[in-house]
Amino acid sequence: MEFMMEMEDRYGHRLSYLRVSVTDRCNERCRYCMPDEEQVWFPRAEVLTYEELERVVRVAVGLGMRKLRVTGGEPLVRRGVVGFIERLARIEGLSDLGLSTNGTLLARPCVADGDGGRDEAPAAPASARAPTTARRLVAAGVRSVNISIDTLDRAGYRAMTGRDYLPRVLEGIDAAIDAGFPSIKLNAVLLRGQSEAQLLPLIRFAGQRGLLLRFIELMPVSTREVLDDDVFLSAGRARRLVEQELGPLTPRTDFRTNGPASYHQLPDSEQLVGFIGAMTDHHFCDRCNKLRLTCDGKLRPCLGSWLEFDLRERLRAGADDEEIAAFFRMVVDRKPEQHDFRDAYQPGRRMVAIGG
Ligand code: 5AD
Ligand code: SF4
Repeated sequence: MEFMMEMEDRYGHRLSYLRVSVTDRCNERCRYCMPDEEQVWFPRAEVLTYEELERVVRVAVGLGMRKLRVTGGEPLVRRGVVGFIERLARIEGLSDLGLSTNGTLLARPCVADGDGGRDEAPAAPASARAPTTARRLVAAGVRSVNISIDTLDRAGYRAMTGRDYLPRVLEGIDAAIDAGFPSIKLNAVLLRGQSEAQLLPLIRFAGQRGLLLRFIELMPVSTREVLDDDVFLSAGRARRLVEQELGPLTPRTDFRTNGPASYHQLPDSEQLVGFIGAMTDHHFCDRCNKLRLTCDGKLRPCLGSWLEFDLRERLRAGADDEEIAAFFRMVVDRKPEQHDFRDAYQPGRRMVAIGG
């Protein structure tokens, strides 16, 4: 197969990065993402099969999308996801395969069919010799794993996620380190009243393990009330709080990952900390390189926009690869210059149903 140049939108964004959500389900209930009372899962028939997802990814890679991140919900609750990832990793032209996870299932023994564990299943009593899910993922070809951890305080974690899974996440992080992913990042969403006291503990935790930590501003993706002034904590304020304790941080504009995080170096240390100013950074969208495929087969040109296009309907109507490629180009052509979060955005789809 011949590989094309990256697709480019009308604002000069080059699309190299596809986020693929494999499920809207999750074994946690983060306050800002899927409050308990709002749970309605997509019926199975509306969720793309692994075959359908793989086909779309192949076409996207043929269009120059080189990086892929598997997301959810919690991707590891979908049965057979490790086997699916193995097949993705074999797609020629894909240079970077990543996974975003809440970390709760990484330490879990993973059995032969690539079952990453099921929603609410108890920690498997499986043979101690079965490799962890983290090891299976590394063997499958996952290069980078992003693990959410908003707090290191067990009671706080429980209040935040609706589950008492902090110990499991910590085991999951250890399992990821042990498995040897080339890149492990920790993501902490900033919440006023909770995150302030967690900034330094999280920085120390990441530093001790040599992991890259990023603080993320809360986005109004799922529920509006999360953006009330009493919950929102800006990246700038978080940075100043860190500086009050540790001294001035040095911006490292030369250091970038795939996304919009801006990195800063701690004083007298090699450690970098990232800040993702989704709401306050007016250049946040400048270098956007992403498209999102939702698990129910909608292609979304922007996380913070209502726009989405129904690819599933085309797929199931028998579209050939050329038609799918044309559909991608059509969506790229409609990619907005920047997100609408700052303009009284009303969330439509839940975050879990978008895939971060
Ligand atoms: N705002 C910011 N980040 C969010 N995440 C989930 N919901 C939100 C939100 N409303 C984060 C998770 C995870 C990543 C996939 O997205 O914590 O780190
Ligand atoms: Fe699950 Fe992640 Fe949403 Fe929390 S933020 S409920 S871990 S999908």
